[in-house]
Formats: sequence, C-alpha cells, structure tokens
Amino acid sequence: MNHEDGVFMKRFSLLIIGLMIFTVVIIFYALHLHDQLVPSENPIREEVKLARIQPAAGVYAGESGRTQVAEAAAAASAGQPAAYGGRLNAEEIYNGVCQACHTTGAASSPMISDPSAWTDRVSQGMDTLVAHAINGYNLMPAKGGMPSLTDEQVRITVEWMVEQIQ
Ligand code: HEC
Repeated sequence: MNHEDGVFMKRFSLLIIGLMIFTVVIIFYALHLHDQLVPSENPIREEVKLARIQPAAGVYAGESGRTQVAEAAAAASAGQPAAYGGRLNAEEIYNGVCQACHTTGAASSPMISDPSAWTDRVSQGMDTLVAHAINGYNLMPAKGGMPSLTDEQVRITVEWMVEQIQ
C-alpha cells in the first residue's frame, strides 16, 4: 500500500463514518417526527364502529300531545291582552267585575256598603286581602272570575274597595 492508497483509505473511511452518523441522525429525526404525528383512524374502521354502536331504535314515546298543550298554553298567555286594556282604573274594573257580588251581596259576598262585613277582613292587612282576591278565597273566585286581570289591576281594585268601605 503506497502513500496515495493510504490517504484514499483514510478519507474513504472518514466518509463512511460520516455517512453512518448521518444515517443514525436521520433515523432518530424520523422517529421524532413519527411521535409527533396524530394517529389517524382508518376511515372504514371508523364507519364500521359507528354502525356497530348505533342504537337499535330511537325512542319514540308516541304522540302524547304534550307539545301542542304547551304551545296552546304559551299562545293563550302570550297573545291574550290584559283585561280593560291593562288600564289601572280600579272603578272601571270594580264596576265591570267585582260589583256583581260586592255591591249586590250575591253568594253572601261582603258588600262594600256594609263596613261591618269588612272590619275583620281589613285587619288581616292589605297583602292578605290582595292575595285572596288574586288566588281566590272560599266563594270568592280568583281575580273575581276574570283571569285576564293582571295582579296589579286586582291590587289597585282591592285598595279602591277598601277606600270605599272606610
Ligand atoms: C262571584 C262573586 C264574586 C266576585 C265576582 C268577586 N268577589 Fe270578592 N268575594 C266574594 C265572596 C263570596 C267573598 C267572601 C269570601 C269568604 O270570606 O269566604 C269575597 C271576598 C273578597 C275579598 C276579601 C277577602 C278576605 O281575605 O276576606 C276581597 C278583597 C275581594 N273579594 C275582592 C274582590 C275583587 C277585587 C273582585 C273583582 C276583581 C271580586 N272580589 C269579585 C265573591 C266575589
């Protein structure tokens, strides 16, 4: 082996070693990249799985009519205007609704012309009187039998009635 061969062998081995190191580096780089990949499901497998776990039948409870009832109730309460155009006119409301009993004494109602029928009632306090007028109380129908009256309308009417008594 002459001198030139020696130089060649030396460079050639260095080249081989360099290539080996490069190979190892790209192997590790490839492994590193692979780890960062989000594994994607085989789409056919996914389809088969979804078909397998599908419920055998959707639950159908039958036509219960509940939706219609709820809709009708919503429509009734939303669309219906308050009685007397929502006006807070106690006298108008009393003459339209309450006087049928509280002026005539029908159904043994306490008449506003009879203060003695009211002393015990008034002493319960205004809130109780109003609550009884709104929710009904024995023969006294809720809101005097006119549910489209607002709570506020009933309240001012009760207040007006109590003023008439005293
Ligand atoms: C169908 C008849 C009738 C109508 C209409 C009526 N009431 Fe009465 N109301 C009664 C009777 C009967 C009582 C007595 C109830 C009892 O004490 O058992 C009463 C009692 C009351 C009382 C006293 C409640 C208590 O705690 O003692 C108030 C207040 C009252 N009514 C307000 C009204 C108002 C306001 C209206 C109109 C929106 C009205 N009422 C319409 C029959 C009626």
